[in-house]
Amino acid sequence: MVAIIRTQFESATGTKMTQEKMKLAVAQAAVDYIKPRLRDDSIVGVGTGSTANCFIDALAQVKDRFAAAVASSEATAERLRGHGIDVLDLNSVSQMEFYIDGADEFDPYMNLIKGGGGALTREKIVAAVAKEFVCIVDQSKQVDLLGAFPLPVEVIPMARSYVGRQLAALGGQPVYREGCVTDNGNVILDLHDLEILDPKALEVQLNNIVGVVTNGLFAQRGADLILMGTPEGVQTLK
Ligand code: 5RP
Repeated sequence: MVAIIRTQFESATGTKMTQEKMKLAVAQAAVDYIKPRLRDDSIVGVGTGSTANCFIDALAQVKDRFAAAVASSEATAERLRGHGIDVLDLNSVSQMEFYIDGADEFDPYMNLIKGGGGALTREKIVAAVAKEFVCIVDQSKQVDLLGAFPLPVEVIPMARSYVGRQLAALGGQPVYREGCVTDNGNVILDLHDLEILDPKALEVQLNNIVGVVTNGLFAQRGADLILMGTPEGVQTLK
């Protein structure tokens, strides 16, 4: 169960934060968190999405304090390179200190739904390598039970209909994400209307469907630390 470790208040005057400001604040909080822990040879894993983009922009301030980054998508690699940050192929990396990424939902046990931006497979791979997964979110992502956000499932294109039928048999409503081809050349089915009572078990069950590449549940390896933007400031949850 997550506990609030601390709240960094936005301002003494009580100025409220907009969602955009919350994203900027958690991005900066993530940089403040990793900065004293970085070494010259550190590799930083970087996620995908609007909050991750804020993080990349903030990370540029400390680009001389670590060796390189690994990106979870082509878009993220491009943004990192745009800031002059070296981007390595994950296969050339044996150790990664941090993975920093956003999420679409998180529950009280630090389980996540990710993949709203379609980068779930690479995100899960990079997160698996990292020693610490720091998740950066605004408070709209906090839920008691995962599943209000449709669960993304990345699927090999020829298996789309088969996997769709298997997902429907679980009680959810799979919806083909029109026009979306992942960086891996696959398609996405978004699984609507599924109450996710046991995220760890469902993650494994979905991955066992032939044709599924991966699904957006990050429960087997959830977040280690969550930095959550609220109107009052950034809360650290662990
Ligand atoms: C992309 C993701 C993102 O982390 C997730 O969709 C949250 O994005 P945002 O920070 O834009 O709300 O999983 O695949």
